[in-house]
Amino acid sequence: MPDAARTTPELFDKVVNLCKRRGFVFPSAEIYGGFRSTYDYGPVGVLLLRNVKEAWWRSMVQLRHDVVGLDASILSPPAVWEASGHLASFTDPLVDCRNCRERFRLDKLDDPDVCPNCGAKESFTEARQFNLMFKTHAGPVENEGAVAYLRPETAQGMFINFKNVLETSRKKPPFGIAQIGKSFRNEITPGNFVFRTREFEQMEMEFFVPPAESQQWYEYWCQERYRWYTDLGIAEEQLRLRPHDDDELSHYSSGTSDVEFLFPWGWDELEGIANRGDFDLTAHAKHSGEKLEYFDQAAGERYVPHVIEPAAGATRTAMAFLMAAYDEEEVEREGQGKGESRVVLRLHPRIAPYKVAVLPLSKNEKLVPVSREVLGTLQPLFMCDYDETQAIGRRYRRQDELGTPYCVTVDFETLEDRAVTVRNRDSMVQERVALADLAAYLTEKLV
Ligand code: GAP
Repeated sequence: MPDAARTTPELFDKVVNLCKRRGFVFPSAEIYGGFRSTYDYGPVGVLLLRNVKEAWWRSMVQLRHDVVGLDASILSPPAVWEASGHLASFTDPLVDCRNCRERFRLDKLDDPDVCPNCGAKESFTEARQFNLMFKTHAGPVENEGAVAYLRPETAQGMFINFKNVLETSRKKPPFGIAQIGKSFRNEITPGNFVFRTREFEQMEMEFFVPPAESQQWYEYWCQERYRWYTDLGIAEEQLRLRPHDDDELSHYSSGTSDVEFLFPWGWDELEGIANRGDFDLTAHAKHSGEKLEYFDQAAGERYVPHVIEPAAGATRTAMAFLMAAYDEEEVEREGQGKGESRVVLRLHPRIAPYKVAVLPLSKNEKLVPVSREVLGTLQPLFMCDYDETQAIGRRYRRQDELGTPYCVTVDFETLEDRAVTVRNRDSMVQERVALADLAAYLTEKLV
């Protein structure tokens, strides 16, 4: 697909359409008319999302000696959010158009004097600060003492568990705590499909370092995180690392860079990497009365570690992988030689929902048992799809649209030669592989 087509609204519509048609993402509560900007991940979408999170966990926890995991609670008491500053200042400036009554985030308007909905000029109300936290009550009595909040980020779970992890994990700075999980923000203007929603998943890591090393680790994590996306197949032309201008920086941050992806509507954020200094641990130490510091025995000194935080969105990143992988091309109709166009998701095998599809050439009673046998051999190794209805060409197209890297076709020759046809998604080249070698052949290509 030409690069210019990657920034058109058509690409956005095509991907959203594909998501619904193939079972990646459904609008939530659809049979009740939907619930604004909430989405459910269907049979294929849930695999994609799990793969994104698994790839992140593998790179951030499994392949490192200096990062451990955590799964903190979603509900927490007001004290946490008072200390973090969220209750006081996790706000967006909100304006209403007096003409059409639509509501906007002031900082996201192209022109702060013109309503993008009705075109009215200077029709906005004064900006009001709107807190994005979801408030609820824990227990049967809905009074002030029972107030709790759904977390708007996973990060605070890592800060408030700093001492627990330090004491139990035998780690010392520099070390990190990583977490993947749901976060909730009452966004004023959710939109662009799953890009900005009120319920979403984050993948965050807090890396605690000696203060003197913070700049060096900040630069390290900026490069590492950029590389993660390119290693998983996002082209460098569609990805950039953008340092924040001074006026964008949070008051506690001495440096923040965003990893941005070229979405159909332009460059937008996938992840922020921030040098947060000692802001978080100091704030929680002050509010909780607990000492949140590290005693370096060798140097005989006590200090509050500084924090480098790479904070990514899992749902948003899954969408970027889909946008980057979407391709259309003219191909020979397989077996018939006529031209046709195909849609293919060129997803990295690690991200692809299914790694392999097992397809008996037909539903013939002789082919099905062998196909099931092949499926049984591959299932413990890879997430597999199995499909025995429709013409084989149409089934290949379906797997192309799901991004399945390999299709294994069981045909009548298989019954004679105990071999199958393996079709490569990207090249569409077919190879004959002996059943006895199939698992090793695919393992070499996929793992
Ligand atoms: N702890 C820092 C933090 O939460 P953030 O930039 O607000 O930083 C990190 O969020 C990432 O979470 C973003 O880069 C984005 O990928 C994702 N994210 C934030 N708000 C989101 C929303 N409403 N919908 C989907 N993803 C969101």
